[in-house]
Amino acid sequence: MAANLIDKDVITALAARAAGIDQSGGNPRLKQVVNRLLADLMVAIDELDISMDEFWCGIAYLTQAGKQNEFGLIVPGVVLEHFLDLRLDEAERRAGLAGGTARTIEGPLYIAGAPTSKAEARLDDGTDDGEVLFMEGQVRGVCGEPIAGAMVDVWHANTMGNYSHFDPTQAAFNLRRRIETDKDGRYRFRSIMPSGYACPPGSQTEKLLQAMGRHGNRPAHVHFFVSAPGYRKLTTQINIDGDKYLRDDFAFGTREELIPQIERITDAAEIHKGGINKPFARIRFDFSMTKEVAGAPVTIVAREHAQAA
Ligand code: BEZ
Ligand code: FE
Repeated sequence: MAANLIDKDVITALAARAAGIDQSGGNPRLKQVVNRLLADLMVAIDELDISMDEFWCGIAYLTQAGKQNEFGLIVPGVVLEHFLDLRLDEAERRAGLAGGTARTIEGPLYIAGAPTSKAEARLDDGTDDGEVLFMEGQVRGVCGEPIAGAMVDVWHANTMGNYSHFDPTQAAFNLRRRIETDKDGRYRFRSIMPSGYACPPGSQTEKLLQAMGRHGNRPAHVHFFVSAPGYRKLTTQINIDGDKYLRDDFAFGTREELIPQIERITDAAEIHKGGINKPFARIRFDFSMTKEVAGAPVTIVAREHAQAA
């Protein structure tokens, strides 16, 4: 066919009717959003001369992605989850909020309800013979005050890049814990060094990325939700320095401020102090939290999570 076959006024009128703009009932916000998205989509179809075959190929793709529950993967892969973070960063800046640990994407692999413990925890169940990782730090407000009783909800992949629950070979809540900071705001955990996640081979996400000449790999990372009464919930990750994909994350999650130094401990006395019998890695990372202020955009996101059985 040809591009630009339809007058823009016709598109505007069609989108408005389809979104029920001329109807009194329904949800006004939903109608506003559907109206805009439909109009933009019709303009794109017309301007790009998207063929019927291309259109229905796209619908079949999305149908299959839905059946395979992959939208949580596709969204970060096409930068939209990172884009939402950039918007929240800017909205906070305009609300006068400054400082604090950088946020980054949650990703689709969080499971609520991990076991809790006070001040320290061991995350791994001992079945994965990876490099031992000790991570520790303090949760503080941006003015430097330690936050006792903050909840550090941590989760990460195993040495294969797989997450418990989604990987049925791992025990329930393996590599997932919630640690409440001690009276000085400190947390500490022992775990294993994760490997980076890769999109499942043959998945709809991988197919799309390959068709765009991209890969579906993330650098190794550890996720955190950090929350405390009176402070804004922080969603973040640390990325493991030296990973091949550190600055080439398919999900756009890496931020320079979130790449801590990794110490490799080989000294026998230190190893002994750590209660283990082989060299280990240590990461020190403090979290800085901004105070909740009236009128600032919320950081507690209503998002569906997979439920542990
Ligand atoms: C992850 O955090 O592992 C992840 C993030 C986005 C897409 C897929 C995985
Ligand atoms: Fe992850």
